[in-house]
Amino acid sequence: KSVNVAILGATGAVGTELLELLESRNFPLNNLKLLASPRSAGTTLKFKGETIKVEAVEAKAFDDVDLVLASAGGSTSKAWAQTIVDSGAVMVDNSSAFRMNSDVPLIVPEINPEAAAHHQGIIANPNCTTILMAVAIYPLHQVQPIERIVVATYQSASGAGARAMEEVKIQSQAILKGEEPKPEVLPYPLAFNLFPHNSPLTDEGYCEEEMKMVNETRKIFNTPHLKITATCVRVPVLRAHSEAINLEFKNPFSVAEAREIIAKSPGVELLEDWQKNYFPMPMDASGKDDVLVGRIRQDISHTNGLELWVCGDQIRKGAALNAVQIAELLMEKSWLNTAKSSLKV
Ligand code: A2P
Repeated sequence: KSVNVAILGATGAVGTELLELLESRNFPLNNLKLLASPRSAGTTLKFKGETIKVEAVEAKAFDDVDLVLASAGGSTSKAWAQTIVDSGAVMVDNSSAFRMNSDVPLIVPEINPEAAAHHQGIIANPNCTTILMAVAIYPLHQVQPIERIVVATYQSASGAGARAMEEVKIQSQAILKGEEPKPEVLPYPLAFNLFPHNSPLTDEGYCEEEMKMVNETRKIFNTPHLKITATCVRVPVLRAHSEAINLEFKNPFSVAEAREIIAKSPGVELLEDWQKNYFPMPMDASGKDDVLVGRIRQDISHTNGLELWVCGDQIRKGAALNAVQIAELLMEKSWLNTAKSSLKV
């Protein structure tokens, strides 16, 4: 069986990656529609050797569509979600708009695929740093429940879009020429610098990115009270995020067992060479499907603690790949029911 697919936000950083993944993974589709803002209407993109015109999104665009992969930002998702659901299509949404909505499953296929069965027309793709951490630690959590997570992230410019990546390059050139770096897309200069994540701050002093890691991980793991604290930082890396993760278990977790589990789990790859002091780097992770895990070691400050170092491609597993895997799951399990849902969002 094949279906009609639309990519909403097809011209963006994640959108173009979605297009590439649908092609390389040979997703069973009949017809592919590329939707973006009116700015891009009429431009073209290539898919399987064919040239497809990008269309401005409008209500009629979803009439004959079964599956929408949306990555055009929260406000665009909010603006079109009801139209998509009412038209009988299923929306896999990459934005944060509906992630914490109790009627919307939040899915990482390696972790909670069964939760997707109960969707009502919208399935949310988690935040990128959350996906990367969740995939890496879930296999350990299955062996022994995690009691507390302390995570610090080192997030690349790609998380802020293609224009932010360009800005880091321009700022780097400016600094090397002895000029002042000018921030335009990002709030502060990122080249040769770093700053705490620029998402809005909450009353507790955490930024929204940090709270996404807390709340979304709890929802994906179905552990509403799991203790999590996060510090998110933007670093001058172009693509792929890194994370230093400290895990606390109820009982000691042997490093040897943790390595063995990571080595055989889906979606992750154990990468460590202790002789060479070589561990995952964003450069290794860029363009890769698997999340790289290394430097697994005993926390010397806590008998039940483990330390992990993780790198993952934020645009791939952190966004587009996870969304396509959700779409594949829906196809495989015949959960892409196109009967109209009564969901109101
Ligand atoms: P466009 O290229 O026409 O602006 P990125 O995350 O890389 O910034 O990409 C955002 C994506 O979302 C782009 O494809 C962009 O299209 C699309 N987009 C942004 N705003 C809208 C909107 N109001 N309606 C539809 N698509 C939008």
